[in-house]
Amino acid sequence: MRRSIKNISSRTLLLILSLGMSLFAATSVQSAAHPDQEIIDRIKPAGVVCVKGEVCGEEDAAAAGDSSAQLSKVVEAAVAAARSGEQIYNASCFACHGAGIAGAPVLGDKDAWASRIANGMDTMMANALNGINAMPARGTCMDCSDEEIKATVQYMVDSSQ
Ligand code: HEC
Repeated sequence: MRRSIKNISSRTLLLILSLGMSLFAATSVQSAAHPDQEIIDRIKPAGVVCVKGEVCGEEDAAAAGDSSAQLSKVVEAAVAAARSGEQIYNASCFACHGAGIAGAPVLGDKDAWASRIANGMDTMMANALNGINAMPARGTCMDCSDEEIKATVQYMVDSSQ
């Protein structure tokens, strides 16, 4: 009887021991996978302050990564579309219209522009887009949209009457 009790207790001891070992193994494997995760989780800030329109937090950053190429295309298009008449004039038209090269009506010269303005915006736009005499098509601004050419003609008209 005594012997069997001893037997049981040593078996139980063995069982507890092996259970303890496997538990220890399980937890140590878990903590080995993310050794510092527990600490990181414990000390991370309770919240994040986000500014609307800016990338913020992990989800936002992932979403931004996905669409950043798309976003930069949209921004590019918006910037291209945002060129003002004055900007285009300075970049593409000033070369001739600044000094009256080849008979170009000079910006601000009311007399030179009066008869052209009298013909109306449609005529001026047609001539600006297609070219007329020494005036090249689109005034050499080949990447200008019709709207941008129109804004530029409007800027030239506004500055010359
Ligand atoms: C290479 C020189 C040159 C450049 C560059 C140029 N122009 Fe001209 N432009 C002319 C000349 C020359 C005329 C006069 C043509 C004529 O009536 O004989 C003219 C005329 C015009 C007219 C009057 C058209 C009309 O109906 O009388 C407009 C509007 C105009 N240009 C817009 C522009 C714009 C906008 C740009 C720039 C995007 C530009 N031009 C760039 C030479 C140029």
